[in-house]
Parts: sequence; C-alpha cells; structure tokens
Amino acid sequence: MKALQLVKYGNIEDSLAFNEVSKPDVQAKDVLVETKAAAINPIDKSIIMGNLQSMIPIPLPSSLAYDVSGIIVDKGDEVSDFEIGDFVYARVPQEQMGTIAEYVAINCSAVSKKPENISFEEAASIPLAGLTALQSLEYVGIKENDKILIHAGSGGVGSLAIQYAKAKGAYVYTTTSTNNVKWVKELGADRVIDYKTEDYKTIVANADIVFDTLGENYTLEAFQVIKQGGKVVSVIGPLDEESAKMFGMADYKLPEELSKLISDKEASYKFIFMHPNGAHLGELKSLIEDEKIKPIIDKIYSFSESIEAFTHLASGRAKGKIVIKIK
Ligand SMILES: NC(=O)c1ccc[n+]([C@@H]2O[C@H](COP(=O)([O-])OP(=O)(O)OC[C@H]3O[C@@H](n4cnc5c(N)ncnc54)[C@H](OP(=O)(O)O)[C@@H]3O)[C@@H](O)[C@H]2O)c1
Repeated sequence: MKALQLVKYGNIEDSLAFNEVSKPDVQAKDVLVETKAAAINPIDKSIIMGNLQSMIPIPLPSSLAYDVSGIIVDKGDEVSDFEIGDFVYARVPQEQMGTIAEYVAINCSAVSKKPENISFEEAASIPLAGLTALQSLEYVGIKENDKILIHAGSGGVGSLAIQYAKAKGAYVYTTTSTNNVKWVKELGADRVIDYKTEDYKTIVANADIVFDTLGENYTLEAFQVIKQGGKVVSVIGPLDEESAKMFGMADYKLPEELSKLISDKEASYKFIFMHPNGAHLGELKSLIEDEKIKPIIDKIYSFSESIEAFTHLASGRAKGKIVIKIK
C-alpha cells in the first residue's frame, strides 16, 4: 500500500516521501481501517522537524499522522464493539501512527463510529483537536456560566473548544486576528477579541478558566486575567510536575516564575497531553449529531498533495483543520 513517510528529520520538503509499504498487521484488539481521510496537526510538524525525538522516539522511516476516518475492512479476534463495514474515526495510538496511508490498524479502544451527519473528510478533522479540547475542558470541570478565555479560537483546537465550552453553557472569550473575527463569532463565542487591534488583558478579567493554546508569555499572562482560585489549563505551556513524571522527568520542577504566579493567585495549573480515547470520540459524535459542534475545515488536499498540506500547516495560520482525502 502507499503511505506518506518521514524518511529523515528536517524541513518538510526534504523529509517526506511517498513509499510502498506493507499493510499493517492486525492484532487481536485492532480494527483494520481503509482510510478515507486523514488530518494533520502541529505535532506532526514537530515530529518531522525532529523536535520531539526524546519524548516520542520514532524509528525511521515512519508513516505519519494520527487522525483518520474510514471503513473497517478487517478486525482482530477480541474486537466485539465493531463490525467489518462500520464507518469509524479515530486518533490512533502513538505506536500505530501513520494515517496518511491507504490502510491503518487501530486498537479498538481508540475508535468510535463516525458521526452520521458529516462526511469522512469532516470526521477526520475532529479526533486529535476535538479530544484535546474535550479532555482539557473536562479536566478543569467546565460548567454553566463559567467565564473562559480560549486562545486562538480560529485554530484546530480553539475552534472546537469554543463550541464545546458553549455546549456546556460557559461564557466564552476568544482571541484571533481581524480576518477571522466574523466566522469565529459564528461558532458561538460571546466576545471575540481581535488581537491585532485589542489587548485581551484589558478585556478579560476574573475568568474562571484560561485555556492556553499559545504558550510562552500567554501561559504567564493567563494569571493576570483569571480570578483568585482560577484554573489555567495549557496544551503548549510548561509541563506540570505530574505530567513531567509521565514523560520520565522525575526531577522536573515547574519554572519558578510560573510557580509564584500560581501561588499568588491560589490558582491551579495543568498541562494536558491529549490521549486517544474512543469513548470520548463517542461523546463528540453525539455533540456533532446534535449540531452542538461542527467541524471547521480550512482546506482539503488530495493524497498526492500531502506535502503541500504540511507546508500550509507550518504557516501557523490555518483556519480550523487541514485534511487529506486519501480515497
Ligand atoms: N498537548 C496536547 O496534547 C496538544 C494537542 C493538540 C495541540 N497542541 C498544541 O496546541 C497548539 C494549538 O494547536 P492547533 O491545532 O489549534 O494549532 P493550529 O490550528 O495550527 O493554530 C493555528 C491558529 O492559531 C492562531 N493564532 C496564532 N497565533 C495567535 C495569537 N497570538 N493569538 C490568537 N490566535 C493565534 C491562528 O490565527 P491567526 O491567523 O488569526 O493568528 C491560526 O488560526 C499547538 O501549539 C499544538 O502543538 C497540543
């Protein structure tokens, strides 16, 4: 079968190649999916550039990407919740990475039936970003009337987080640039802050939650806009100590400046590294079928245009998700 592979670490143009590889083996708990569509995420770019070699060691060449939708064409002996012919979507586990390929084997715990009211391309756009939004906001226990600031509302994660937070009844502030303000507002955000012309720190005050999708100074500044005892959840800021242990960094200490901000605000800080979860995708399926969440796609590329898709991703300007139609 044909797959897009990372052949060496480096820049996008030099590192990727279409290779003929064998179909993946199907283990007892796996389903084999004929891929209809895949989607790409900033983590794929970081992997290509070799920035995550210590955290995620990958033998090269390696097929790329985590998001997939498609049709089950085979399954292992211990799979009881899915049948051949089912339409499914998933964020595949790390060891099964490689969704820009004609087939992918996936542990069934990571799989959900696909939402029935959307296309395969739309379904592929959901898993990694949707799970990130759901798991982050579920971690902080988002609830009705919470005031939340979600950074980068026009990004893959932000555009789904806004809709998830609104489905939970929260009041949503979000940041984006001028050209995206109108459509981000249409996702349901209550106050869209144009970061080109406005300073969010003068607009948001006493927020219950900040969802940090930007990192660097944004992680620190979150403590200026949360209430005393508020919660900051980040997917790109410094690891917290518990997360660091998960990555084998037993002696890790939170940066001092961040520790002080947390303590001054009697706040909580958590770094979330999303994990594959079929049950969570089932929750997103229901929200999509109830029209509480809709997929946001920037552009759909063909399989042969996959490398261009990565160049677009690397621009950091995607409006929602970048999808690759495989078949
Ligand atoms: N820890 C985890 O498990 C996990 C999971 C998923 C993602 N992540 C991380 O989370 C981050 C977001 O991921 P993503 O998939 O949403 O990325 P993305 O879709 O590539 O984000 C692109 C968007 O970011 C917006 N943006 C860039 N700078 C901004 C700024 N200063 N203020 C407001 N918006 C800004 C851009 O809007 P404009 O063009 O308007 O600026 C664009 O729409 C990435 O760093 C990713 O690595 C972590």
